Amino acid sequence: MEHTLLAPGGRALTYLRLSVTDLCNLRCRYCMPPEGVTKLSHSDILTYEEALRLLRVASSLGMDKLRFTGGEPLVRRGLTSFVKRVNDEGLFSQMRLTTNGVLLAPLAADLKAGGVQGLNISIDALEPDVYAEMVGMGGESGRKLFRQAWGGFMAALEYGFTTKLNCVPIRGRNDSQILPLARLALEYPVTVRFIEHMPIGPDGIWKESAFISASELKETIEKEFGPLTWLEPEYPSAPARLFKPRGAPGAIGFISALSRHFCADCNRLRLTADGRLKPCLLTEREFDLRGPLRHGTDDEELRNLFLEAAGRKPISHQSAETVQTDCRRQMSRIGG
Ligand code: GTP
Ligand code: 5AD
Ligand code: SF4
Repeated sequence: MEHTLLAPGGRALTYLRLSVTDLCNLRCRYCMPPEGVTKLSHSDILTYEEALRLLRVASSLGMDKLRFTGGEPLVRRGLTSFVKRVNDEGLFSQMRLTTNGVLLAPLAADLKAGGVQGLNISIDALEPDVYAEMVGMGGESGRKLFRQAWGGFMAALEYGFTTKLNCVPIRGRNDSQILPLARLALEYPVTVRFIEHMPIGPDGIWKESAFISASELKETIEKEFGPLTWLEPEYPSAPARLFKPRGAPGAIGFISALSRHFCADCNRLRLTADGRLKPCLLTEREFDLRGPLRHGTDDEELRNLFLEAAGRKPISHQSAETVQTDCRRQMSRIGG
């Protein structure tokens, strides 16, 4: 029997984001406090076996796109073997991964062979010192991380992944990098996406004065490259609005998480590393799957929990203020 997970408003939920770890090898200032965050304990994290069981349930409910996220997914040992197992079972027609790229180069071949088709790589600056400052690791260690992330980006292109580069621009920190990053779309077949900074993450980092809206970004880029041509979205509920600079092999995208809500088309559910199903990135509600899973619940009951979470997906998140007060789980524990 064909199943579909339906959320209020008739939204079919077909896209699962699986966070495989809350750990990260960077400390991006907008995501984590400099001292890092309290780690989940090892026993809190779903084992690969447990995650696989939940992925089978999700797939049986019609979910057909999977994105691996973190923290930083590539810091979890054994990830490439896990990806391959998921692929061998043929559970999803598309598998993608979001990474900061630092550990990517040596793993790219295995990810490709394991069936991952697309990589979204977060790189907030091309100037090594600005990058180091953004990822909270000053000096030579930060510059070295930049070289590794850049190597990851190059490996993604070399292995033929569908590649997107994510940047969160923050005034006074990395706004000097907007044009150099956008220029990558003129040179490489990459979609460079600018994400509006959302007020989740460490207190005091999000400031209205440092917020750069998608419309401002687009204006800045058009001033330099001339008018951008609108492109069809990658899929109807894709968060980014995409544009092509004239003659470019790549594209430029804007994710207006604050200035334009895309909740009405949202097709996602998120599963956290500790086995909570989140119907919405920006609201607090979670459904515990790990507890029932570890208490011997059968697949039918797990399916019911997915159906319940889908049914409780909010019609929309409200506003920047609600975002700030409602979502206490750090971004690194959700996976974006
Ligand atoms: P694809 O469309 O499959 O490439 O995925 P994506 O763009 O959602 O994936 P990625 O992990 O690169 O996420 C980019 C960023 O978009 C996220 O970190 C968020 O900042 C934003 N975003 C993604 N999904 C949502 C969502 O459901 N709501 C909101 N408000 N923002 C989102
Ligand atoms: N606002 C917007 N984007 C964020 N990311 C992390 N924290 C935030 C935030 N507060 C982005 C990362 C990565 C993606 C998964 O989420 O830069 O590209
Ligand atoms: Fe790590 Fe991503 Fe957070 Fe940066 S934004 S600290 S790479 S989880």
